[in-house]
Amino acid sequence: MARGKFIVFEGIDGSGKSTHAVLLKERLESEGHKVYLTREPTDGEAGVLLRRLLTGKADLPEQAIAGLFMTDRIDHILNAKTGILRRVEEGEIVISDRYYFSSFAYNGSYAPMEWVIELNRLAMETLRPDLTVFMDIQPEAFLSRIESRGTTERYEKTEVLKKVRENYFKAFSLLPEEKVAVVDNGRALDEAAEEVYRVVKEAIGE
Ligand code: TYD
Repeated sequence: MARGKFIVFEGIDGSGKSTHAVLLKERLESEGHKVYLTREPTDGEAGVLLRRLLTGKADLPEQAIAGLFMTDRIDHILNAKTGILRRVEEGEIVISDRYYFSSFAYNGSYAPMEWVIELNRLAMETLRPDLTVFMDIQPEAFLSRIESRGTTERYEKTEVLKKVRENYFKAFSLLPEEKVAVVDNGRALDEAAEEVYRVVKEAIGE
């Protein structure tokens, strides 16, 4: 059976990546592809604890949080019931809202990025995305989107998010072997969606 594909959406909070992940899924499905949309943190054991940490209901040292994201990722890939590796191997197109570049960019703001990359080696070797789509927006835009949603998650602070955006670009240059497409999302939804569709189709060889 032909291997499927693995596409990841990345971006800072409020970048619109989740919206584009859904639009891409619908478009690929309308062409007859079997598509599975997933996200990190997951709804698994580690993911549930991560959501408690992100909303301030629990606390751990930043290095331990980085380790927990890695644990959640391994569960995401290899879980006996829900693991996405099996789906990719069975021919599906799996789209994930966040993956290891989120760890490099976010957790790499608190712990050395090289260390966070090493921590994630197993995931990088086990399931590498066919394409990581980075939805890029400018600080002014992300602030207003986040405020209009009214959330107060741990990392949703302007200065932190500026640093996170810089870290994404740092990680992209540290890892030139990763396939990454940067898509400007500071424009009309349909224009950005069209570019996402184009770069993804190219990456999956269609
Ligand atoms: P997400 O669910 O995308 O946020 P939202 O529900 O607001 O759209 O991600 C939750 C947060 O987790 C986000 O601030 C980024 C952070 N995160 C990390 O710090 N490291 C990681 O490895 C991942 C996957 C997410």
